[in-house]
Amino acid sequence: MDIVRSIKEINEKVESFKRQGKTIGFVPTMGYLHEGHQHLMKTAGEQNDVVIVSIFVNPLQFGPNEDFDRYPRDEERDKRIAIQEKVDLLFMPSVEEMYPKDASIQMTVQSRNDVLCGKKRPGHFNGVVTVLTKLFHLTQPTRCYFGLKDAQQVAVIDSLVQDLNFPIDIIAVPTVREEDGLAKSSRNVYLSTKEREEAPSLYQALEAGRKLVVDGERNPDTIVKGVEHYIQTRTSGKIDYVELLSYPELEPVNQIDGQVILATAVYFEKARLIDNVIFQRE
Ligand code: PAJ
Repeated sequence: MDIVRSIKEINEKVESFKRQGKTIGFVPTMGYLHEGHQHLMKTAGEQNDVVIVSIFVNPLQFGPNEDFDRYPRDEERDKRIAIQEKVDLLFMPSVEEMYPKDASIQMTVQSRNDVLCGKKRPGHFNGVVTVLTKLFHLTQPTRCYFGLKDAQQVAVIDSLVQDLNFPIDIIAVPTVREEDGLAKSSRNVYLSTKEREEAPSLYQALEAGRKLVVDGERNPDTIVKGVEHYIQTRTSGKIDYVELLSYPELEPVNQIDGQVILATAVYFEKARLIDNVIFQRE
């Protein structure tokens, strides 16, 4: 596996892949890799000639009071995992390499952004689409892989590639979970023992909400309240949101119809966790 840190080096490597006519699968990450990331890498490996992974904790997508400084990082461990997953090229740029000067151009997400994490983390998705635009130009992928754990991110990136005509297939990969249902996340390391025991309740609450719909409940408020109650009575966390929306449009649903997302974000002492389920009204 090659490891590159500069724009110049990644340009050279990608140019060489392109010259050889290779298809490129790209997995952008912020590192502290876990089985969720590994699943994306495996899928990319099955579908492409070469796999590029980026590890970059993107300051632009963190708010002033968020966890940029203490986002977990472990380069050596990440390198070992990438080698194990047969990644061909690992791109690990510094902040200075990606953002050498104050930006003159600012990207703004206009829709699918006023709900869920977009609403609760102002500027977050502007930072995500900015870094991905740069990474797409640098890696020129045939296909790019994202996890449905961050379902709003997938919806926003679908708009990004459509609106800006990136010739890239966006592949959405299902959420990888621990055996007890907790969605794998780099931030899970920040849960206390007690919080870790409580945390599977997020997924259980969402599944209970899905069951309400399957059993015939059609009022979105009743479902949201049911999920909130489940989380409040079983965890010490503070709910940031529980929302039921159409997916991928992320519009309010008055009568549940078509494909919907039921999503939550919950603050624990040192970590904010998110999870969702996406399902079809039968
Ligand atoms: P990060 O949180 O590191 O996630 C990288 C990719 O892994 C994302 O597509 C995310 O949805 C996926 N992922 C995380 N946990 C997962 C799980 N349990 N199952 C399946 N996939 C999972 O998302 C980002 O980084 C950043 O916003 C990024 C896209 C890299 C832009 O900076």
